[in-house]
Formats: sequence, C-alpha cells, structure tokens
Amino acid sequence: MAAVVVDGNKLAQEVLSEISAKLEGASPKPTLAFVLVGKNHASEIYAKKKAEDCRKVGINSLLVRLPASFTQAQIINKIRELNADQNVDGIIVQLPLPPKIDENKIIEEISPHKDVDGFHPYNFGNTALGVGKIAPCTAAGVVYLLKKSGIKLEGKHAVVVGRSRIVGKPLSLMLLNENCTVTVCHSKTKGLPKYTRQADIVCMAVGKPRMLKASMIKKGAIVIDIGINREGEKLVGDVDFGPVSRKASLITPVPGGVGPMTRAMLIKNTFECYRMRRMENDSKKLS
Ligand code: GUN
Repeated sequence: MAAVVVDGNKLAQEVLSEISAKLEGASPKPTLAFVLVGKNHASEIYAKKKAEDCRKVGINSLLVRLPASFTQAQIINKIRELNADQNVDGIIVQLPLPPKIDENKIIEEISPHKDVDGFHPYNFGNTALGVGKIAPCTAAGVVYLLKKSGIKLEGKHAVVVGRSRIVGKPLSLMLLNENCTVTVCHSKTKGLPKYTRQADIVCMAVGKPRMLKASMIKKGAIVIDIGINREGEKLVGDVDFGPVSRKASLITPVPGGVGPMTRAMLIKNTFECYRMRRMENDSKKLS
C-alpha cells in the first residue's frame, strides 16, 4: 500500500492560524529582524517566504541588508544594535555567511532572548536537555509533524542522516528526548544502507537529490525528507520519492512537507520570544 503523504502546508497553516489568533489586537505587534549579508539566491528566497508568513499572522519584518564587504566586527555591531532595540523581538542572521565570517561567533552575539532560530548555545543547550521554549525550527517542525501525524515516538529506532547545526544535531537530540533510540549517520558513515534499513523512522538531511532509495528502507518505515535540492526549476528532496513512497508507511514530500513546518516553527518561536519579553513583564531579567 502507498504511504500516507503528510501535508506540511496544512499542518503549518494550523500553527499560523493559532499564532494569528493569539496576536489579534496585540499592540505593538512583534517585529522580526532578518539580517542578510551579501547576496545569496537561496537566502533571498527563504527570507522572502518567512517574511510572507510574518505578514500573514501580524508580525512586522525588518529587513537588514549588509554588504558582503562587512567585517565580522561590523556585523557584530549591527547585531548588538538589534539586541538593544526594544522594538525588535527576534533576530535571524540568514546562513550561510560569507566564508571569511565565523558563524559561531556571530550566532553567539544574538541575544538568546531574540534567537528565534534556536541556534545560540543557550537555546541549543536547553534543546539538548529537553527544556526551554526555543528549539531549532526544522527539528521542532519534524517532531511536531510526526506527533500530529499520530506517530508514537517512544521506543522507535530513528536514523538521522546528517549532523548539521541547523538540522541533524538538534533533531537527533529532540528525538532522543522523545525516547526514540537514535542513530546519527553522516558523510563519513561506512555502509549507510545497513543503518537506514533498521530504522522505523529515517530522517534525511543531507542535501543530495534522491539519495535514499527504496532498497535502503524497511517496509512500512516512516520517511522524513528534509533535503531541498534544486534541479533546474524543480525542487527535489533527498528521497527518491516515487519508489520510496510505495514501500514506506508515511512520507513527507518536497516541496510541501518539512519546509512549511520549519517556517511555522519560526513564527511560533518569534511569538514565544515576544511573549516572554513583552507580555511577561520581566524586562529586567531579559535586558
Ligand atoms: N539557512 C538555511 N536554513 C536556515 C535557517 O533555518 N536559519 C538561518 N538563520 N539560516 C538558514
């Protein structure tokens, strides 16, 4: 039997509607700052889509464009300005940054209270411990999507392929916190199929088009495709969708699967940062 194909757009819309309702009548509205350094086609598209979601739910977006020639110190100065700006609730520095810039240093400069990506060591650490409100968006989106699809995570063997800061590492930790047995595979893993074939849940976050073949999964596996690869005008995931969907029990498509969930979690994180900073009237602790 063919797999259930998860409608990420529909699930994401539910999250956006919830946040939109919570923000009805809110004044001032939250503001999310997007920092784009230099020109990167993919970053431009991601930021545009995220800003569209902000508009839909009543979050202001502030686009901060910095030239590729900016030094690390100049970028840090801008982030400090945004940290100090009481009208700014969330800050995203769109990655990747130009190669001369140290991403870790930049992310550390973002106030953890405005770190809507959940990449700051404070939020990342909390995510690892299974506490706190701000988790990296893609990982949070995958866990949300699995739960909403009725999957019981406890005791499942999850194989995460990829170990990036943005997806693989936080996702493997979050699945561990859900009581999955987690195996993390990566570019240096020898004999990948031997691991993926054991998995109840395979999460692909590699960036290689159609890498996961039907022969690499067991029958009835749950397959989460986090890859976004461009093939001409077309977007394809890391999963060979057609054949894999005939063997899996549940699968996420690309586009329309994890992507919209990532953006929905960003909106949720922005709302949480806004709520914690402005609504809980705890500005001393957070300044
Ligand atoms: N580049 C690709 N995905 C992301 C993301 O989720 N956040 C940021 N800041 N940059 C990205």
